[in-house]
Amino acid sequence: MVTYLDADTAPLRNTGQIRLYGPEAFEGMRRACRLTAQCLDELVSIVKPGVTTNEIDRFVFEFGMDHGAIPATLNYRGYTKSTCTSINHVVCHGVPDDKPLREGDIVNIDVTYVLDGWHGDSSRMYPVGRIKRAAERLLEVTHECLMRGVAAVKPGARTGAIGAAIQAHAESQRCSVVRDFCGHGVGLLFHDAPNILHYGSPNEGVEMRPGMIFTIEPMINLGRPHVKVLSDGWTAVTRDRSLSAQYEHSVGVTEDGCEIFTLSPAGLDRPGLSS
Ligand code: MF3
Ligand code: CO
Ligand code: CO
Repeated sequence: MVTYLDADTAPLRNTGQIRLYGPEAFEGMRRACRLTAQCLDELVSIVKPGVTTNEIDRFVFEFGMDHGAIPATLNYRGYTKSTCTSINHVVCHGVPDDKPLREGDIVNIDVTYVLDGWHGDSSRMYPVGRIKRAAERLLEVTHECLMRGVAAVKPGARTGAIGAAIQAHAESQRCSVVRDFCGHGVGLLFHDAPNILHYGSPNEGVEMRPGMIFTIEPMINLGRPHVKVLSDGWTAVTRDRSLSAQYEHSVGVTEDGCEIFTLSPAGLDRPGLSS
């Protein structure tokens, strides 16, 4: 039996219960998420052939520091970087290093800033120079999956409606949905209840209620859905080495739908694609 509780009085750990946040929390999330979105905006002009993912990581760290925020991934479960950079067949949790990006790569950059205790978690895909038509199509499909998932958020519906909308679109486009990673409650904690699956059916999952805050972050593959984690313990790749893409927003459930906290103030939600 799932229970919901007042975020003001709940203990600060994931107890499996679902926090319902009030107006001050929404205000805090707007600020943290705006900073994350601004960072992702800045990265549009930084990502190009020859730039290393460590240089991107350094920028994300400095930009956070300059604005009073700390990257949530720093020292998170032994992770030592400020961002995840997942290139081509890397599904998620790619670890920044000194290898330069190459023309034609697609890279996901995932940033979570903690500002005044609030976690703003978002990621976007960045084309590196000119990319192939197949890659561009994957980015289009994956962004559309995210936005169809967001459109399914409303009080009274179950979280399974989000997954169902994402899966239906991905599979109609002959793409597949990664099952091994999911969205998550976010807010005062980085990863909280409930899990948000990116596949499933509308009668599954928990009922959404106003005040819930969570991420939607579908990972979509051009090939099969199966992944494996490399020996570094982090980097998840497609088993068939097909291209994988991901976009992520942090959202809050409102009385009549949802608020997307991590929208780009500059309209750069889908870099390299027509908006
Ligand atoms: N930001 C990722 C997410 O969307 C989590 C990264 S955890 C890390 O949930 F340790 F890999 F950085
Ligand atoms: Co997330
Ligand atoms: Co993220």
